[in-house]
Amino acid sequence: MCKYLPPQSIPIPILQKRKGVEVIKKTFFFLLPTDNLQLTTHFIIFAAMAKEVVLSGIRPTGFLHLGNYFGAMRNYVRMQDEYNCYFFVANWHSLTTHPDTKELQTAVHRVIAENVACGLDPEKVSLYVQSDVPEIAELYLYLNMLAYKGELEKTVTFKEKVRLQPDNINAGLLTYPVLQAADILIHRAVKVPVGKDQEQHLEMARNFAQRFNHRYGDVLPEPFAFNYGGELVKILSLDGNGKMSKSENQLNTLYLADSDEMLKKKIMKAKTDGGPETPNSVKPDYIENLFTLMKLVSAEDTLQKFEADFDASSAGNCIIRYGDLKKQLAEDMIKFITPIREKAADIQNNKDLLSKIIKQGADKARESASATLLEVRKAIGMNY
Ligand code: ADP
Ligand code: TRP
Repeated sequence: MCKYLPPQSIPIPILQKRKGVEVIKKTFFFLLPTDNLQLTTHFIIFAAMAKEVVLSGIRPTGFLHLGNYFGAMRNYVRMQDEYNCYFFVANWHSLTTHPDTKELQTAVHRVIAENVACGLDPEKVSLYVQSDVPEIAELYLYLNMLAYKGELEKTVTFKEKVRLQPDNINAGLLTYPVLQAADILIHRAVKVPVGKDQEQHLEMARNFAQRFNHRYGDVLPEPFAFNYGGELVKILSLDGNGKMSKSENQLNTLYLADSDEMLKKKIMKAKTDGGPETPNSVKPDYIENLFTLMKLVSAEDTLQKFEADFDASSAGNCIIRYGDLKKQLAEDMIKFITPIREKAADIQNNKDLLSKIIKQGADKARESASATLLEVRKAIGMNY
């Protein structure tokens, strides 16, 4: 230990993981060069660059689709270099609504394989299965003591599930947001990339963290929903009825596992109409959706051509040919989805690779989870 510490020095602990717990191996003292503005600035920037923790989960309740890809997975892939990322398959959560587990293992494997096929690198992020991290269940137990029946009953998603499955209003359904909070807080994640429908769950996670910190001491940071702002896309189903979804309206949703023929068939029967009445019309939702899809998967000049055809069309002069647009879109969509589908199938059929990815993810996740749990137990006084 340095005996004579100049006032402008900053201690930098070098951490080492031992048995999953971070311990201080050595401390260096960094002398702030107060007379060198450039170096001081570099240091401050370096300190600010310590990677924030990002976490998100997907329930294995169906096939992943284009909405999941452009609304969620594409953002995960973008975040993997910038942040310390944890992405997981929420298989415990799926039991609250899907008690039949016959298809569960295949569904879990498919979500892992599709995420990797879409570009998530298991070496860079922790990609794991929720039930492989028992630390989450222990934190869930502690947080349950801080969650009140009244607030859980008022949660929008709970009320919706009560309406959808009146014969199975189980306690897991009621405490769904508590388990979700445990998922997030176990890694002390601060950014959670999720859609708008999850904002109430995030608010509840913040409340549970605050209550924990207030009662036992500051351990858990407050997490916030995160998105790339203006770039958030919503992909409608091809009949214009609501959004593409994992388990509803399957004939109008484009899945990452769909065959080329299936993609073509779905796109060719997507809803259109007789064309715009006047030049430069506002596009109806279902037409706008086809252009959105084209923007995401087709070349810029292809999009421009169809945009120009649409803008120039009017009642007696219909230049835009929706049949041609759909044919082109189907072709480009097949080019986009086929490599993902094939890569995902390869991974899914390679059980050794899948087990390796899942184990590697679980190891990383448990290392971080057990470090948090140690702090949590200490704060509560459960460290005997
Ligand atoms: P689903 O409704 O298909 O079951 P989830 O609710 O599990 O999908 O959502 C997983 C992620 O995918 C969320 O971040 C959500 O915002 C995103 N997502 C789901 N459907 C769409 C869609 N049609 N368009 C854009 N993003 C979507
Ligand atoms: N509830 C989320 C959904 O339905 C899935 C989920 C479970 C989740 N745990 C999470 C998302 C933690 C983000 C963080 O989409």
